[in-house]
Amino acid sequence: AATRYEAEAAPATCAGAIESNHAGYSGSGFCNGDNTVDAATEFTVTASTAGTATIAVRYANGATDNRAADVLVNGTVAHSGTAFDPTGAWTTWGTKTFTVSVTAGANTIRLDPATAAGLANIDYLDL
Ligand code: GCU
Ligand code: CA
Repeated sequence: AATRYEAEAAPATCAGAIESNHAGYSGSGFCNGDNTVDAATEFTVTASTAGTATIAVRYANGATDNRAADVLVNGTVAHSGTAFDPTGAWTTWGTKTFTVSVTAGANTIRLDPATAAGLANIDYLDL
């Protein structure tokens, strides 16, 4: 079973505000990152074994742009400029999955905006 890491709770960090004004999120809120190119959201996850893992990121994008982001694992870009496509409304949440390579133990997974639009609103990461 996956472990869920909420964006609003430590050890996650949110370069913006933790908010709860758009329904449908998990936990107590979501990360509304600032609309700037350097407003990243970072999760610290624990993997039981080294190897390939699937992560799922739940997000909402009520804007019309695709809020592209780089996915960095332990500081290295694993997926560049990945689209987080519009979900139609800030209250409509979607999931993007990625395959990543992790080490045993703690790993950082950082969503780094590819443009000055910033990230979509981020709800959680499952690993
Ligand atoms: C709106 C919305 C926010 C969102 C922001 C954005 O302000 O309420 O939740 O983060 O747009 O465009 O990033
Ligand atoms: Ca935002």
